[in-house]
Amino acid sequence: MDVIVLGIESSCDETGVAIYETGVGLLGHTLYSQAEMHAQYGGVVPELASRDHIRRVIPLIDQLLDRVGLSSQQIDGVAYTAGPGLMGALMVGACVGRSLAYGWGVPAVGVHHMEGHLLAPLLEGEIPEFPFIALLVSGGHTQLIRVDGVGRYQLLGESVDDAAGEAFDKTAKLLGLGYPGGPALSELAKQGNPDRFHFPRPMVDRPGLDFSFSGLKTYARNTLQQNSDDPTIGADVARAFEDAVADTLAIKCRRALRESDLRRLVVAGGVSANQRIRARLQEIAEGERGEAFFPRVEFCTDNGAMIAFAGALRLDAGESSGLAIEVSPRWPLSELPAVH
Ligand code: KG4
Ligand code: ZN
Repeated sequence: MDVIVLGIESSCDETGVAIYETGVGLLGHTLYSQAEMHAQYGGVVPELASRDHIRRVIPLIDQLLDRVGLSSQQIDGVAYTAGPGLMGALMVGACVGRSLAYGWGVPAVGVHHMEGHLLAPLLEGEIPEFPFIALLVSGGHTQLIRVDGVGRYQLLGESVDDAAGEAFDKTAKLLGLGYPGGPALSELAKQGNPDRFHFPRPMVDRPGLDFSFSGLKTYARNTLQQNSDDPTIGADVARAFEDAVADTLAIKCRRALRESDLRRLVVAGGVSANQRIRARLQEIAEGERGEAFFPRVEFCTDNGAMIAFAGALRLDAGESSGLAIEVSPRWPLSELPAVH
C-alpha cells in the first residue's frame, strides 16, 4: 500500500519540508534558506540556525499541507534528518518530527542527511539502477561511494581535509564574495580567462580515491597576493580554481568507475549544482561509455524532498525509530542498515 510521508530537513541553514507518496512521487516541497541571516557573519552561526529552524518549521509544514490539500490525518509517517549536521539544528527537526509522529499516531524515522543527498537523483524521471558509483560533494563531505542498494554503501575515498564545498566557500571569501561562496564564485568564474592560471589537481598522481582541497585555497591566496595590483584578477582565479576542482573530481570519478568496473555515476550534494562540474562529470561518464545522473538543481543543495524520499523508502521497508529523540552530529554512512 502506498504511504504518504512528511520529510523535515534542518541539519544546517535550510529549513526544508516535503511530502512524498510512495508509488506516486513528490507531492510538494518548500524551503526557507537562512543564508541571508548568516551572510553578515561570513558563515553559519549554529545557535542562530537552531533558533531560526524553531521559528520556521511548523509554519512551513502547515503551509505545505495546505498547498497540497492534505490534512495531518492523511500523513502515514514522518522522516526527519537525524545527522550528520549541527547538533542544535538537528534537534529542532528531530523534536518536531518525532513529536508530530507521536501526536498523529504514525511511525517516525531518522534519516541520514548524506543518504538523502545520495538518493536525490532517484526523485527524477530517469532513475539509475544499482550498482553505481556516487560522488557526494557538499559543504561538509566529499566522498566516493560504491552503492549496491539502499543502505548498501562502501566508502571508496574521501577528502583528507576540506570538503569541495568548503574549499569553494573559503576561496570565495578570499575573493571577497559573500556567503555561501560556491554559487557566487562560479558566477564570477564565467568572466574569467581559463588560460591565465593553471592550478594543481591535488592527489591525482597518487593511487587511490581520496581528495585534498585545502591546498587549492592556499594556491588561490598566493596567486591573489602576487597579482594584487590587477583589478580583474578575481575572475581569473575563480575560473582556475573551479577548473581545478572540476578536473580533480572528474579524474577521481573516472578512476572509481574503472576500478569498480561500473558505468553509472550519480552525483549529488550542494556542489553538484555547479554547471561546469556537472558538464565535466557528464563528459567523463560518457567517455567510459556510461551515464551520469544528477538531481535537479534545486535538490542538489539541502532540501526536504530528499529526506521525505529516503524516509519513505525506509518506512516502507518497515523501519522506524523509537520514541527517544536521538540525533547523531557525526554519523558514517556505512553504519546504515541495508533496505531489502
Ligand atoms: O549540500 P549542501 O547544501 O549542504 C551540506 O550538506 O553541506 O551544500 C552546500 C555547499 C556549500 O559549500 C556551497 O558553497 C556549495 O554547496 N555550492 C556550490 C554551488 N552551489 C552550492 N558550490 C559550487 N558551485 C555551486 N553552484
Ligand atoms: Zn547537505
